[in-house]
This record gives sequence, C-alpha cells and structure tokens, in this order.
Amino acid sequence: MLKNSDLNYGLIARTLHWLTALLILGSYISVYYRQWFTEPRTPVNMAALQLHLSIGISIGVLVLLRVVWKLANKSPHPEPGSSALAQRAARWGHLALYAVLIIMPLTGYMGTGANTNWFFLFEIPKFADTALFKAVVEGWMGLSHAQFEVPIDFIHKKGGATVVWMLIVGHAGAALYHHYALRDRTLIKMTTG
Ligand code: HEM
Repeated sequence: MLKNSDLNYGLIARTLHWLTALLILGSYISVYYRQWFTEPRTPVNMAALQLHLSIGISIGVLVLLRVVWKLANKSPHPEPGSSALAQRAARWGHLALYAVLIIMPLTGYMGTGANTNWFFLFEIPKFADTALFKAVVEGWMGLSHAQFEVPIDFIHKKGGATVVWMLIVGHAGAALYHHYALRDRTLIKMTTG
C-alpha cells in the first residue's frame, strides 16, 4: 500500500523515511571524511565536499516532500496503552527533527561559498550568486557574504550538527525501546508493516 493506514506507514512514507536516514548518514560520512582524512584542496577533498553539498540539498528536497506527504495523509494510530506524555514527547521529538532537517540544508546552502555540482551531473549556483541574496542580504541588510555567513555557519557547523545527532540518538533509542522493551508495533509500522 502506498498510503498510510491506521496500522502502518505506507510505502511512500517508509521510503522517504529510510532514504532520509541513509542520506543523513552519508552527509556526515562525506564531511568528516573530508575534514579528517583528506588534504585541503586535493581532488578527493573537493569531491567529498561536493558529495556533502549534493546529499545535503537532496535531504532538503526530500524533507519538503515528506512534509507535503504527511499533511496529505493520515498518520497511523499510536500504540494502544501508550501514555499521553509519551505521545506528546514523540510529537515534539518528530517536530524538532523536521525543524533541524529544514534548518540544516538551508543554512548549509546559504553559508557555502561553493556552487553545488549535484552528484557531478549539473551545477546549482551558490546562494551568494542568486538574485534573492543580492536583493535581501546585500541590498536590504547591507551585508557581504563573508559577514552574512558567520552566524549561518555557526548554526550549521556547531549548533545544528550536534542537535541533529542528539535528536537522532533519542529517536532511534525510542524506536528500539518500543521494539525490544515494550514489544509493541512502533518500529514495525515503519519497517515491514
Ligand atoms: C541535513 C543536511 C545537512 C547536514 C546534517 C549537514 C551536516 C554537516 C556537518 C556535521 C558538518 C561538519 C561541521 C563541522 O565542521 O564540525 C557540515 C559542514 C558543512 N556543510 Fe553541511 N549538512 C547538511 C546540508 C548541507 C548543505 C545543503 C550544504 C550546502 C549546499 C552544506 C554545506 C556545508 C559546508 C560547506 C560545510 C563545511 C565543510 C568543511 O569545512 O569541510 N551542508 N555539515
């Protein structure tokens, strides 16, 4: 079934979910491989950066699709017996995950000084070269890209990068707790159905 039912997430929601998870893993591997294992400005260093940018932009597009699909679809019912507090915690946790998965691609794109060569197929111009940047950031705010990128990079590289990990650990931990300790269908709804 493509759409969600009262019992399970449908094939589209499940595909979007696990593809996002895979891409997040890829975005971390590519950026830390670049930083820890490559010399600056070598071909492999630049290729790893381009992979990070390509994966990051893809996550941004996927998250927008997920939000549209979520709004157009019903969500499966919570597990019978789960407390109001647990349901509220899950709702806030999911909301926070959506928020960081929108903020991270946005701040990444707005902060980078490089064009994205999307999976080495075609070029996406950097934010500093867009009409929006020239009108709003240069024209209206009176900032150069070097000035504008300081707080944006801080959110992307310091704050956001850490918050994403904390939320993912909490999210995956909760799913495993449901599966192995509570032995309910929470994880099954998003896997085999
Ligand atoms: C959900 C999406 C994304 C995640 C989770 C993510 C995560 C990260 C992380 C963990 C870092 C390393 C921070 C550090 O220096 O310690 C980073 C750096 C960076 N990100 Fe992203 N990012 C995402 C999307 C993007 C996008 C869409 C772009 C640009 C199109 C981008 C551009 C950059 C750049 C230029 C760096 C610095 C790379 C370096 O100095 O080696 N990111 N990102």
